[in-house]
Amino acid sequence: MPGIQPYLRRMLHGWQTIVVANRPPIDLHPEQSGPGRVTRGGGGLVTAMSALAQASGSIWVAAARGTADLELVRSAGEDQVVEVTTQDQETFRVVFVTPDHETYELYYNQISNPLLWFVQHYLWDLGREPILDGRTWRAWRDGYQVVNQQFADQVVRVAGRSRSRPLVLTQDYHLYLMPAMVRERLPEARLQHFIHIPWPTPQYWKVIPRAMRDGIMTGLLGNDVVGLQTSLDVRNFLMTCEENLGLGVDHRQRIVFYEGRSVWVRAYPISIDIAALAKLAESDAVLEQERQIASWRPELLILRVDRTDLSKNIVRGFLAYERLLETHPELRSRVVFWALLQRSRQDVDAYRAYLGALVSAAARVNRRFQTGSWLPIRLEVEENMHKAVAAYKSYDALLVNPIYDGMNLVAKEGVVCNTRDGVLVLSENAGSYEELGAHSLGINPFDIDQTAEALHTALTMPRRYRSSRARQLRQVVRRNDISRWISDQLQDLNDLLAQ
Ligand code: G6P
Repeated sequence: MPGIQPYLRRMLHGWQTIVVANRPPIDLHPEQSGPGRVTRGGGGLVTAMSALAQASGSIWVAAARGTADLELVRSAGEDQVVEVTTQDQETFRVVFVTPDHETYELYYNQISNPLLWFVQHYLWDLGREPILDGRTWRAWRDGYQVVNQQFADQVVRVAGRSRSRPLVLTQDYHLYLMPAMVRERLPEARLQHFIHIPWPTPQYWKVIPRAMRDGIMTGLLGNDVVGLQTSLDVRNFLMTCEENLGLGVDHRQRIVFYEGRSVWVRAYPISIDIAALAKLAESDAVLEQERQIASWRPELLILRVDRTDLSKNIVRGFLAYERLLETHPELRSRVVFWALLQRSRQDVDAYRAYLGALVSAAARVNRRFQTGSWLPIRLEVEENMHKAVAAYKSYDALLVNPIYDGMNLVAKEGVVCNTRDGVLVLSENAGSYEELGAHSLGINPFDIDQTAEALHTALTMPRRYRSSRARQLRQVVRRNDISRWISDQLQDLNDLLAQ
């Protein structure tokens, strides 16, 4: 990102940018004998925002999520900015919010993930779930509202220490109530909120009780700009304001009229930091991982890299691969499906059960087809960015088959790193399909026969077709890299300020 820094300095001159996200940009891995490692945090949000935060010198307000974070807070002093550098030499300035364990549990494990994540990814089997009752309301009141208030307090505190005007860049579904709270106390601030996950239809939002969903909307409408991933998300958001709140909306200008203000609603398809990824791809750690892969890889490699999230559709991916091995026995022993997965949200029952289900699905397929010298699925549950990048370089087919996904940065990272003209098999319900669909093999993520056929086509595609697709995919991602994502948002904020 070095190229964007002068631009950011110019655009942000006179502003104190404050990134606000549940997740800190760093993961601490303490060791008994010494301070331990610091890596960049997981997930698409951190991947994208870390570029902006570093380039703009932002302060990042995040929740302390465990004893290692709390230890850091204790050593730096409550409410203080801590400067932390990762093992890949990225430096962040972080201020933590420190909800107690139970409050965080209610906010994160009862509302944010099982409720908001589920509604926004259409994950429920509505005939049976969700069942909302007094416990849901308690989690809303004593968890979600409380933590949003704590974040608002911290943002106000951070803003109060700077002489520059605050520009508050809030992220995602954990913090929907916070912008209105901040606006009330910092009327001079500019507030932008980016939602990394899909925005469903107004009808589907009606699964959530009215007072909650109205609270979410009025919290969000405290912003000046609401950013979403795709044009479909923007349309759904505008319709939600119109249908569920009866607000005036201008669909052409993409504006919601609320309490005498105009709130802009815009699509900014998120992307990746190409230069940083290219550098990482050539690092010694990644080259070492590549050597290890070369020592075991078969002729053909199918890869997936995902958090163990229900929305990622990992079990159907294994079923599709099973179908591939059934219908194309000539591929047996020549191919391996490598699932490189990161454990996610294991305090939520549905996620724990899902991890169990996907491990059993992989084991069953392996039992059915394995031979003395061939294991059809290589399943690794591990957080290792170096290994993931080496895997990106090495695949012949990358399977990205989410049920619904805001964007999916694995698809973008994969296509820019890959060195084998690998083919992208992509769900039409991933946000990235809007940009990458034309040069990938599109699938309905529920249809395992179609997914199996797409994997077969990917593995047997003649070289010249593969390489032209791979080239075009790389071009699309390079054209719309993270600098563009950042500059489009700042340009809009600038236009808004000029009004
Ligand atoms: C997605 C969400 C982020 C979240 C990330 C990882 O990318 O949009 O808000 O941080 O997943 O999930 P986690 O719950 O581990 O932070």
